[in-house]
Amino acid sequence: MDGSEALNYRSIEAYLDTNFVGRNIRHYNSLSSTNVKAKEIAMDVEEGTVIIAEEQTAGRGRLGRNWISPKGRGIWMSLILKPVIPPAKVARITLIGAAAVNKALGDMGIESHIKWPNDIIIDNRKVSGILTEMSCERNMVSYVIMGIGINLDLKDEELSEELAHKAISLREVAEQGIDRKILLAYILNHLEKLYIPFKMDGDISGPIEIARRNSILIGRDVWIRERDMRKKARVLDIDDEGRLMVQYDDGGMGRLASGEISIRGLEGYF
Ligand code: BTN
Repeated sequence: MDGSEALNYRSIEAYLDTNFVGRNIRHYNSLSSTNVKAKEIAMDVEEGTVIIAEEQTAGRGRLGRNWISPKGRGIWMSLILKPVIPPAKVARITLIGAAAVNKALGDMGIESHIKWPNDIIIDNRKVSGILTEMSCERNMVSYVIMGIGINLDLKDEELSEELAHKAISLREVAEQGIDRKILLAYILNHLEKLYIPFKMDGDISGPIEIARRNSILIGRDVWIRERDMRKKARVLDIDDEGRLMVQYDDGGMGRLASGEISIRGLEGYF
């Protein structure tokens, strides 16, 4: 595991194949959260700027959860994007991130699944999560922050007992180890390739195809959490707008733009 080399621009430049994503990298030893820092500076920097921290002291997950981010043992990053879209389309950007992480892991010889909309799964455990946040004005997006966390080498003692069953680190599956800087560069390369058609024409077909092909949910029986309720359903597909198509147990059909899904009957992460 290459945990020693800082994830700054100098260390990844040779592997980067982008025009604007990752061309401005702000690297910190410690931050409360890269998403928080990204929001502070978003209006003053160019699109594609990336905030990276070796450690987050208050890393944030979805639904107000925290995200454990110990020093040097993961990739904790936030990408600033400025698409000209209404807020309703921002959920699609999470799928671009999930597809990019899945493809980059594939480049490193690691097979993973996508748990719509924002988790990357290996061996039924979560290796990476994405937290997309936005700011908008007059019903148009000013900026989007795509926060990506990837577990490279978490220690059991850093995790709660519950999390130790739900989380996995790449160290556990990569026999030769993982070079963080190469993985980061590959993620940024895929992100730009998948993001440009969306930015130019709203075309999200590439990420959707990747999310479908590698979905861990399609064909499964799940619980869907909606506010304080949970409903049983079967996942049918991901539609062309990136929504999850489900059939509820009462026969009704639904298309979800975002949500929390757990697979029925599976322990561990689900
Ligand atoms: C989730 O699955 O709940 C989303 C986790 C997102 C974690 C990343 S780590 C980098 C960025 N900064 C944060 O505070 N959170 C995201």
